[in-house]
Amino acid sequence: MKSDRTASIIGTGSYVPEKVMTNADLEKIVDTTDEWIHSRTGIRERRIAGLEQPTSDLAANAAKAAMENAGIKPEEIDLIICATVTPDMFFPSTACFVQTKIGAVNAACFDLSAACSGFLFGVETARQFIATGTYNTVLVIGADKLSSIVDWDDRNTCVLFGDGAGAAILRHREGSRGILATRMGSNGNLAEILHIPGGGSACPVTADNASQKPATIRMNGRETYKHAVTAMVDASKQVLEDAGVTADEITCFIPHQANLRIIEAIAGRLDIPMERFMVNLDLYGNTSAAAVAIALDEAARQGRFKRGELIHLVVFGGGLTWASSVIEW
Ligand code: UT7
Repeated sequence: MKSDRTASIIGTGSYVPEKVMTNADLEKIVDTTDEWIHSRTGIRERRIAGLEQPTSDLAANAAKAAMENAGIKPEEIDLIICATVTPDMFFPSTACFVQTKIGAVNAACFDLSAACSGFLFGVETARQFIATGTYNTVLVIGADKLSSIVDWDDRNTCVLFGDGAGAAILRHREGSRGILATRMGSNGNLAEILHIPGGGSACPVTADNASQKPATIRMNGRETYKHAVTAMVDASKQVLEDAGVTADEITCFIPHQANLRIIEAIAGRLDIPMERFMVNLDLYGNTSAAAVAIALDEAARQGRFKRGELIHLVVFGGGLTWASSVIEW
């Protein structure tokens, strides 16, 4: 049954830690150069959270900014979905820690695991709860502290990632179409091209394997790149068709912030000028589930689109997972 109760994003917020790590700083840690990192990825610097700052701290700060932006009180939140692959601990969920930190005493809370696609998976999950009338106000957060799962000796990966959080408040808004369409997809057959092999039940970290750092990110960069472009282009085309709009009608495209060359490839294949794409990966690197959420918040605050205009979000990550949405702002 298709519900008439639409879901809109009524506020956004984001947070990045204060500590900046530049490409020059990385030159002192691994065999790399600013030239290599910037020319291959577009990244200039990233933010790194302190040891005393778990993912829930980043998430709570983003959530507070989103609540302020939406003009709501924490007690009004019915559900908190926190998308993350770097939870504070296996359980309780990071969403439960956020609940306590922001005082959302009436919320149900859970985490969502879809790697870099998690925020958009969360937004679509929130939409479903609002459409059915189960909940009125949902807080969706994408938050990751990737510095805690990066192998700082692996130049193939450690230069790419950063820490941060972005959040959105969703609610039915009278007279707005809100989220017009969403496509989500996954391909578990390709799990190994981007994953963390250890630290879970399949391969717990033990005294015997700890030296191999099994609980850190492993990525086949070229394969990931190839699938990222194909999946994000296909999902974008499908969701535009589902929404019944053309790319020309979209005011701002907000893609996952992993690599500038990936974004340029998407723009080229969709035949959209780069000026209509939000890019902030130069400042933050790839912050996984947080990336598209931070980009959305910064684009909104920069006034890149107005109420009633259409925006397009597209993400890709480990799983593999991908998703794309068309949203009336
Ligand atoms: O968020 C989830 C989605 N993640 C992504 O979308 C990431 C997708 N992949 C990429 O963005 C790119 O594949 C990378 C940025 C990771 C790598 O760029 P690439 O152009 O595909 O480079 P490559 O992996 O083919 O490596 C080229 C060379 C290699 O040397 P050889 O074998 O050609 O001699 C690497 O060893 O660059 C070397 N290399 C580095 N050199 C200096 C790899 N990392 C570095 C580094 N500094 N940090």
